[in-house]
Amino acid sequence: MFVVTGATGNVGSELVRLLAAAGEQVTAVSRRPAPLPGGARHSAGDLGDPAGLKAAFEGAGALFLLVAGDEPRAVLEAAAAGGVRRVVLLSSQGAGTRPGLYGHPVAFEEAVRESGLEWTILRPGGFASNAFAWAEPIRAHRTAAAPFADVALPVIDPADIAEVASVVLREDGHAGRTYVLTGPGPVSPRERAAVIGEAVGAEVRFVEQSREEARAQMLGFMPEQAVEGTLAILGTPTEEERRVSPDVERLLGRAPRTFADWAARNAVAFR
Ligand SMILES: NC(=O)c1ccc[n+]([C@@H]2O[C@H](COP(=O)([O-])OP(=O)(O)OC[C@H]3O[C@@H](n4cnc5c(N)ncnc54)[C@H](OP(=O)(O)O)[C@@H]3O)[C@@H](O)[C@H]2O)c1
Repeated sequence: MFVVTGATGNVGSELVRLLAAAGEQVTAVSRRPAPLPGGARHSAGDLGDPAGLKAAFEGAGALFLLVAGDEPRAVLEAAAAGGVRRVVLLSSQGAGTRPGLYGHPVAFEEAVRESGLEWTILRPGGFASNAFAWAEPIRAHRTAAAPFADVALPVIDPADIAEVASVVLREDGHAGRTYVLTGPGPVSPRERAAVIGEAVGAEVRFVEQSREEARAQMLGFMPEQAVEGTLAILGTPTEEERRVSPDVERLLGRAPRTFADWAARNAVAFR
């Protein structure tokens, strides 16, 4: 049985669907109720409360773990006590490229490596689904605002992260590996807004925010260190952060999905 945390999220919801479709037993963990496919069961749980996850881990063999809460070691101990032998961690590319600004994922990575479980770490770059932040302004007035308008990065479709997770959770041969996950090519925020415009059949006006405007907005829903790390990658990416990683193609045997593909599948959110 597979335990998927973050089951209401962009990656977790798709991973639950993929595992269930493959005929696997899945326990979907989240604080909010998650819409589930047949074959999956929901277990309400908070990664900030490891003791409360005991029931979810009972009889599990593998765990998809999200960086949330502050007690990764206690979560991993509870998982091992329930029977988990394999853990796949959804970390961030920044844990490798800017460890000083990504303390939370770095701490989770260390806990996973030292857990005694068979581990695999996924380090995705920025998600295509971050464009959902534009859904309301695009629906309301066909406008999308972001900083660093022309800094292009190879954003990844969360459906590809879920597919990679499904492979490494189910297959042998990925123990002790860290995979960097990106999309197939760099796309700037201005280009992403235009691509969404094409998907909805209407022109989307792009408004470039200052770094300070973006920072103030992000502080409304992200911790300060995460905001600084994200702004550093968005504004002044390193060579490595700009580069397309070969790992998605190696693991899935096909190129990663494009941003246009993500926008076409999610166009309804922007209409
Ligand atoms: N977005 C990016 O560009 C990006 C880039 C690199 C890495 N990541 C990592 O990928 C993960 C997902 O990011 P996302 O942007 O796709 O977010 P998302 O779809 O909004 O997913 C967040 C998920 O986290 C769950 N969650 C949050 N706090 C929790 C807690 N204390 N206990 C249990 N579940 C909790 C939420 O479930 P409930 O609220 O229902 O509990 C939700 O399912 C994040 O951990 C992030 O660090 C994101």
